[in-house]
Amino acid sequence: MAASATATSHTQVPVITIDGPTASGKGTITQGVARVLGWHTLDSGALYRLTALAARWHGADTTDAAEVARIASDLDVVFNDDIILLQGHNVTDTIRHEVIGSLASTIAAWQPVRDALLQRQRAFAKAPGLVADGRDMGTVVFPGAPLKIFLVADAMARAKRRYKQLKDKGISANLSDLAKDMEARDLRDTSRAHAPLLAAHDAHTIDSSSLTIDDTIRQVLGLWSGTRVPSGRP
Ligand code: C5P
Repeated sequence: MAASATATSHTQVPVITIDGPTASGKGTITQGVARVLGWHTLDSGALYRLTALAARWHGADTTDAAEVARIASDLDVVFNDDIILLQGHNVTDTIRHEVIGSLASTIAAWQPVRDALLQRQRAFAKAPGLVADGRDMGTVVFPGAPLKIFLVADAMARAKRRYKQLKDKGISANLSDLAKDMEARDLRDTSRAHAPLLAAHDAHTIDSSSLTIDDTIRQVLGLWSGTRVPSGRP
């Protein structure tokens, strides 16, 4: 379902958060759960990747947190089903390159950049509901979400998945380089001072290493059907 990424205030609709490390399957599971429920999706990692790409396009100093935060605030982006437009250009595949993912992970460690993207992410919460994927969806962006998932998978399963994803998009990749890059990214994401990757205290952890996509989606939907949403709260 399409959603425009304009910066408006947080609306009170049900949200399922799906956090976890790189290539744990968050994106696929988010899409699958949202499709069954007929809900919107938020790929928050795409916003960090778009900021990284825009910073490169603008020739910004990518060591300057304030400058990159300004670029994050001013992002001209449209999410239209599977297509992502940045300043009117289709960047759906460009932002998936590892070099952009790696820069995204560097700039995502800076609080001003995270602050600049916060309201934009909350603006995705629109009726009838939102499935939000990222690192801090359950801890920072939607702390009141009634269902929080922390999706993990072992390192080799994740490296193989990312390798296949890139190959399918026609992007060349090397499995051992990918595994090393993922390890570095995970370390940066879990050890950073601001909004580190960690399971919310009320999150359900699902290990998808040996689960099929459909099994994982079924587990999330099973948890959702057993979730009571207190009235007057998302
Ligand atoms: O999920 P994806 O790999 O597209 O995210 C790119 C990078 O953006 C991650 O490595 C992470 O550093 C950062 N990120 C984040 N918080 C989020 C989503 C992504 O810090 N909610």
